[in-house]
Amino acid sequence: MSVNIDKLTLTAARSPSALVNCAQLLTLAGPNRPRTRGEMRELAIIPDGAMFIRGSKIEAVGSRSHIEALLPDDTRIIDAGGRVVTPGFVDAHTHLVFAGNRADEFEMRCSGITYQEIAKQGGGIRSTVRRTRAATEDDLLSTAQKHASWFLRGGTTTIEAKSGYGLSVEAEMKILRVVRQTGQTEPLRCVPTFLGAHEVPEEFLGRTGAYVDLVIEEMLPLVAVEKLASFCDVFCEPHIFDQQAARRILQAARRLGLGLRIHADQFSCSGGAMLAADLGAVTADHLEHTDAASIAALAAASVQPVLLPGSVYSIGSRHYPPARAMIDAGLAVVLATDFNPGSSPIASMPVVLSLACTQMKMTPAETITAATINAAYSLSLGREVGSFETDKSADFVIHEANDFREIPYFLGTQRPAMVFAQGERVVF
Ligand code: NIG
Ligand code: FE
Repeated sequence: MSVNIDKLTLTAARSPSALVNCAQLLTLAGPNRPRTRGEMRELAIIPDGAMFIRGSKIEAVGSRSHIEALLPDDTRIIDAGGRVVTPGFVDAHTHLVFAGNRADEFEMRCSGITYQEIAKQGGGIRSTVRRTRAATEDDLLSTAQKHASWFLRGGTTTIEAKSGYGLSVEAEMKILRVVRQTGQTEPLRCVPTFLGAHEVPEEFLGRTGAYVDLVIEEMLPLVAVEKLASFCDVFCEPHIFDQQAARRILQAARRLGLGLRIHADQFSCSGGAMLAADLGAVTADHLEHTDAASIAALAAASVQPVLLPGSVYSIGSRHYPPARAMIDAGLAVVLATDFNPGSSPIASMPVVLSLACTQMKMTPAETITAATINAAYSLSLGREVGSFETDKSADFVIHEANDFREIPYFLGTQRPAMVFAQGERVVF
């Protein structure tokens, strides 16, 4: 695997380091809250910026001359080579852990069969569930570690990772343990989300209510006791888990202390976003079909929308979520990959940023805010990652670019020159 913690860097970890020679240091410094409206375009860029790093944390951020004056003699210099440096991307919606892939269904979609038709024929999420149930925990871990290396290579240093391809008590816990182990073994911060209500499993077909009972009575209490997740998510669509079922599950999760996220209005405007607003969820994700009234409700409840243009693109739809209307309504928009084997086999945040610019008419600056500081707040990590400020984690990406707008502009050609997580270089 090409992603490794540099042993030399590790031994030198106690000596301080300084990042210098950044054409643009995008600090994203600002108020201690997610950014809205015009703030999303304010990246707090320092030209010829620099950073002083001690261990895993940022100690000071400023102009090169200001930072150089602070440096002790034994400082290790990281030369950005006149490139652009951003905080590590925070990908706030991924399905990290699954077995196999669905390249066969991808080929079917290319010949005109839709994502939903494939799901109705027993493919889709259920086909990945069959394979994930059959996989050992060790096999799932090595696949998840491979996926982690893909995220890191794209400049992502924090992800949210959902379960949801187990759909049984045992298999859901197996997946959440793999999320935890991935975060412990790889230099990728992983925030776990329980998504037991991702689909109704085969053995419960026609008995959705009984499956919802299993999620509430057996899975959620175990998740809480073993502290396997920080958030609970539900796939809320009329033909999967309707508003009423989603509400029951999310209310039970809240009683156990979990934060709430919802897959909402992906295929129809069916009350998912309204439910998120009503429950005061942290995020409502997808929102491809969300209407103006739901946007107003999300704004009133300060729910963060997590937009996933990679999944719209990959299923061959043109129905992107109304990002501009959301920004105009004051919503603190987040962008994420939705990395999964079906609707979004995309682990690259730069690709998502590019789609957000061209298809949703977000500006390059807005996409960077949505993929860093706003995403960090949506995971309750706004004080730890997502911007360059004193005491935050030294997670940063040296991009192969001299101007930050090149990040979404040169689609598919570049990968970051260097990626650092907690002060250590993780991609070579
Ligand atoms: O976010 N919509 C539900 N879940 C995923 C797709 C999962 C799959 O196709 O395997 C999503 O798009
Ligand atoms: Fe998803």
